[in-house]
Amino acid sequence: MIDEPLIRLRGVERVYGSGSARCAALAGVDLDVPAGQALALVGPSGSGKSTLLHLVGAMDAPSKGTVKVAGRDLAALGDAAAARYRRETVGFVFQFFNLVPTLSARENVALPARLAGRPGAQARARADELLAQVGLAGKREAFPDALSGGQQQRVALARALINEPRIVLADEPTGALDQATGDEILKLLRELAARHGVTLLMATHSESAVRVCDRVIRMLDGRMAD
Ligand SMILES: Nc1ncnc2c1ncn2[C@@H]1O[C@H](COP(=O)(O)OP(=O)(O)O)[C@@H](O)[C@H]1O
Ligand SMILES: [Mg+2]
Repeated sequence: MIDEPLIRLRGVERVYGSGSARCAALAGVDLDVPAGQALALVGPSGSGKSTLLHLVGAMDAPSKGTVKVAGRDLAALGDAAAARYRRETVGFVFQFFNLVPTLSARENVALPARLAGRPGAQARARADELLAQVGLAGKREAFPDALSGGQQQRVALARALINEPRIVLADEPTGALDQATGDEILKLLRELAARHGVTLLMATHSESAVRVCDRVIRMLDGRMAD
């Protein structure tokens, strides 16, 4: 279908617990995201931003409603297809970088490509290219504990892109960085998204993040506030 957006949520609810402990992390979300858009999700802590990213990343499933990516209902993917989707269709960027401490920058970036079955030499060459794109060509052999927070997040951006995902999901990517470093990361993330043609969904508290995105969705109590 020519008009189909890359990401489509319809009537999405995600409920935790039951009875008096019932909590609707998402309480009925409809959202279309066209391919190539950079979307900021903003809202107070607990408003459902991470839950929404997890659903689009097939790391979690809705209690009700559908999440479709490129026309495919994620709930219909079997375990193997869902694992492959998480590895190849989406790239993740986290607040605390989540690098493997025992691997070098290059090995961290190459890891998802190795897990996807790409040969080591090819994965390393691609990792080196991406490290150059994030300004870390000189730090390929460095281990995470020898890198600053901003540098670790650059490594994580490169890692998120190694399998050429269609979507990058970034959950508070500047939440652990100072303002200036965070702004640099946002600029770089936005540039990389455009350069690689990826659709970007970013949960954030940062007003700078809102400025670099094409569109802002405000969340409140599991709903879109707009
Ligand atoms: N695993 C879980 N079990 C119970 N409640 C959860 C769980 N994950 C999230 N929640 C609840 O869902 C709501 C939305 O959480 P979340 O999506 O993490 O919000 P945000 O990312 O905007 O801070 C919160 O009230 C949170 O406590
Ligand atoms: Mg969150």
